[in-house]
Amino acid sequence: LVAAVAAGCATPDEPIGPTHVGLTFDPTAYTEKTTTVATSSGAKSVTYRFYGPVTYVANPVDADYQSLTVSVPISIDGRPVDAANAPIVLANSVGGYMPSSVKGSTGVGEQTMTGVPAGSAAASGSAAPSGEVASGGNTMLNGAGKTVSLAKLAVAAGYVAVEPGVRGRTLVNAKGDYYGVAPAAIVDLKAAVRYLRANAGRLPGDVERLVSTGTSAGGALSALLGASGDSPLYDSYLRDLGAASASDAIFAAGCWCPIADLENADGAYEWNWGTNSIAGTGKLADQKLSAQLRDKFVTYQQSLKLTGRNGYGPLTADNYTDYLLTTYLRPSATRFLTAMSAAARSAYLAKNPFIDFAAGTAFFDWDGYVDHVGARKKSLPAFDAFDLSAGENNLFGRGTTKARHFTAYSAARSTSGSKAVDADIPDLLNLMNPMYHLRTANSQRCRKWWIRLGTKDSDTSLTVSSNIAAAAAGLGDEVNHRMYWDQGHGANDDAAAFIEWVGTVTK
Ligand code: DHB
Repeated sequence: LVAAVAAGCATPDEPIGPTHVGLTFDPTAYTEKTTTVATSSGAKSVTYRFYGPVTYVANPVDADYQSLTVSVPISIDGRPVDAANAPIVLANSVGGYMPSSVKGSTGVGEQTMTGVPAGSAAASGSAAPSGEVASGGNTMLNGAGKTVSLAKLAVAAGYVAVEPGVRGRTLVNAKGDYYGVAPAAIVDLKAAVRYLRANAGRLPGDVERLVSTGTSAGGALSALLGASGDSPLYDSYLRDLGAASASDAIFAAGCWCPIADLENADGAYEWNWGTNSIAGTGKLADQKLSAQLRDKFVTYQQSLKLTGRNGYGPLTADNYTDYLLTTYLRPSATRFLTAMSAAARSAYLAKNPFIDFAAGTAFFDWDGYVDHVGARKKSLPAFDAFDLSAGENNLFGRGTTKARHFTAYSAARSTSGSKAVDADIPDLLNLMNPMYHLRTANSQRCRKWWIRLGTKDSDTSLTVSSNIAAAAAGLGDEVNHRMYWDQGHGANDDAAAFIEWVGTVTK
C-alpha cells in the first residue's frame, strides 16, 4: 500500500466506477481497419473496429502503460460477424516482468512487450536488460509454422481482442522510484479487467467470458489473474489507481511457460536441472548449495499436498520425475514422433538413442531426458541471485531500491549487503503467486486452464507448470496441460488449438 500510495495519486473522495467519465467506454470511438491474419487454415482478411489506446484507470501512474486497445471483428473474408457477445481474449504481452505498452498502437497485434518500440532488441525478445531473455510476449506460431500475434488470431476467429499495457519492473521515474515493481503488473491487469467488466453492454464482447493469455512472465501473470479473481488483497492498490468498481474475475487462463511460484523456484530449479552444467560455462553449479536448495523443494512439495492428475495419487519430490515422465514427457515425445514421417522419425531416433519407440509409444527415463535437454539456462540460485542480479530481484524492488532478496536462503548468503528479507516481502509474494490463491482455494478463480510448456525450457523447473495444473485440477477445475517436445522457452506450437479451445470452453 505504501508503495502504491507513493507511486499513485489517489483522491479518496473522488467517485470512481463505471460512471467515472474517464472510465466510460465509448462504443462509437473506433477506426475501421482491415488486416490479413495468417491462420492455420490459411490467410484471412479481417475487418475490425479498433478502439484506443484508452486508459483503464482514473488515476494512472503512467498512462503510457495503463492503457489498452480493443479490436472487434465485423467481417471475416467478407462475411459479416457479430462479436457483440463473443468471448474476449485479453492478450498480455509481458516478457521478463518488464513493462508492455500499447502507446501509439494503431491496430490489432501492435503491442510492444517491453515498453520499448517494436523492433528494438528487447522488444523482439533478444537481449533484455541484465542479460535476461524476454522471450514471452504476444507473438506465437499459428499452428502452421507462421509467427502471428494471438490477438490477431483471436479476431480472425470472431473473438474480441483486448491488448492491455501494464507496468513492469524496469520503470523508474525522475525521483528514482521504481514504479513498476511487484505487484504493479498484476494490479494493472486486474484494473484492465475491472474496466472491461464495468463497461459491460457498452463494450462489444461478453465480459463473463474473458480469457486471459500470456507467455513466460506474461504466462505467470495470466495464471495469477485467473487464480486471484476478486481477491481483496489487491483492493487498496486498485483503489489508489482509481480502478473501476467491478469484478476482476476472469473465465479462463491461457498460460504458456509460466515463470511463477518465484519464492519456491530456486529449489524446484535445482531439483529439475541441478545436475546439468550451466549454459555458457560448461560447469556444474555448486553441488552442495544445489542439494540444499533441492531439499527445500522436497519440503515445499510435501507441504502442497497435491494429487497428481489422472488418478496419480499424492505428488511428492520422490515420485515427481515419474509423474512428469508419464503424464507429460513421454506423451509429448509420442505425439512428436507419431506426427513425423517414418524417415524423419528413424533419423530422429537414431540421433536420440535414449528414446525407445515401440508400438507407437515413446519410452525413456528421467536421466536420459535431462541429459537430452543439456545445459541449464540459469546459474544458482536461478531466481533470487546472491548478488541481486536476477530480473526477479528487480521485480521485488521497492521505492528507490532497484532489487531486493525475496527468499531467506539467498538473503542469508547475499553478496550485496542485505541479510534478511524485508517485512513486506511475504505479502508481496502472495500477491504475485498463483499458487497462493490456488492453495487457499479462492472461490472466484477461473475454472478453465490452458497450460503449455516446451520440454527443453530450462528457464524454470517443469514442476512450476505442473503444480499449477495439479492444484487447479485438484480443486475440480478443467485443465488442459501439455508439453511441446523439444521446444524451448516461449514456444507455442498449437495456437490454433488454443483458439478452438476458447470456443469450446466458452460455449
Ligand atoms: C522470463 C524469463 C525468465 O527466465 C524469467 O526468469 C522471467 C521471465 C520471460 O521470458 O518472460
